[in-house]
Amino acid sequence: MNRREILKLGAVLGVGPSLARAECENVPNNVFDADSTAEDVTRDLDLSGKTALVTGVNTGIGYETMRVLAQRGAHVLGTARSAEKGRLACDSVSGQATPLLLELSDFDSVVACASSAKAITDSIDILVCNAGVLLNEFQQVRGLEMHFVVNHLGHFLLVNRLLSEVLAAPAGRVVVVASRAHRSAPADGIQFNRLDGGWPYDRQEFYGHSKLANGLFSLELARRLDGTSATSNSLHPGVVVTDIARNLPAWQDALFRFAGSLFLKSVEEGAATTCYVATSPDLEGVSGCYFSDCKPETPEPNMRDPEMARRLWDVSEELTRAYL
Ligand SMILES: NC(=O)c1ccc[n+]([C@@H]2O[C@H](COP(=O)([O-])OP(=O)(O)OC[C@H]3O[C@@H](n4cnc5c(N)ncnc54)[C@H](OP(=O)(O)O)[C@@H]3O)[C@@H](O)[C@H]2O)c1
Repeated sequence: MNRREILKLGAVLGVGPSLARAECENVPNNVFDADSTAEDVTRDLDLSGKTALVTGVNTGIGYETMRVLAQRGAHVLGTARSAEKGRLACDSVSGQATPLLLELSDFDSVVACASSAKAITDSIDILVCNAGVLLNEFQQVRGLEMHFVVNHLGHFLLVNRLLSEVLAAPAGRVVVVASRAHRSAPADGIQFNRLDGGWPYDRQEFYGHSKLANGLFSLELARRLDGTSATSNSLHPGVVVTDIARNLPAWQDALFRFAGSLFLKSVEEGAATTCYVATSPDLEGVSGCYFSDCKPETPEPNMRDPEMARRLWDVSEELTRAYL
């Protein structure tokens, strides 16, 4: 392994200097920072009576998000790709957690997951789009590039299917776990004419492209929710030691875990921004923002481009029309 390879792996996951903080006025300052944990940012909150749906709860940031939201009193509907993984995760937390099956690359599964959630509740206070994948090799599903489908389109469909439940909550929040890795997307942004992945494979670009899509989806959702009781925000969790590098060559995964244990965020810290954006009373009515270390951050221009966001919504709608 050489220095260039190490830096490249870091960049895939969004290591890098913070962008200038700006925009998103009306967000009060807070005492939280990169060392704050999900328990810290929710310490005085009572989420009793609230329902949260979190995707990808069997491990990593999603597990910690579920654990802490349930600890604070929320009923968490936690998704996993197998019944066994979901049951084990939900059974291991204190509080109320109910497993749901969800495979984001299978739109029938997304529809079934939304139906299961609707059978349990008619109101969702917090909907966290957390699940995500980082692949090592080019893969397609439904003729589309796999990162785009799993990380973006599956969540686009899930959120749209559950929007009436989010709107039924007094102040529903949709929270999309994007990444600072959106900076690794192609310079001209979403590849509308090449969503099949018909471009030379570079996992950094493809992962970044899907994370740019996460941010743009959240932005356009915020515009569409304007004037309602619900909000939509996205975030970068930090670079967090999780299973996210599991599909990379074994030495890169091992390096990530080793370096991570020394220098990167723990999952307790990695879930802090998600839990902050999902629950903080400071963020009542705040929508269309992007956060990192529990503070608003200004993403790259492409992720603030309202036209790109609208077009992505229209194209995503077209690609999922039969399931919406
Ligand atoms: N870790 C970081 O440094 C970092 C940095 C920036 C952003 N993020 C983002 O944070 C989120 C959580 O990642 P993590 O670091 O906690 O990774 P992780 O430990 O690998 O967890 C990912 C979760 O997503 C689920 N998932 C993967 N593919 C799926 C699919 N096709 N359908 C449904 N669920 C699927 C996984 O389920 P299985 O276990 O069954 O595969 C798992 O529950 C992701 O969106 C990631 O892009 C992470």
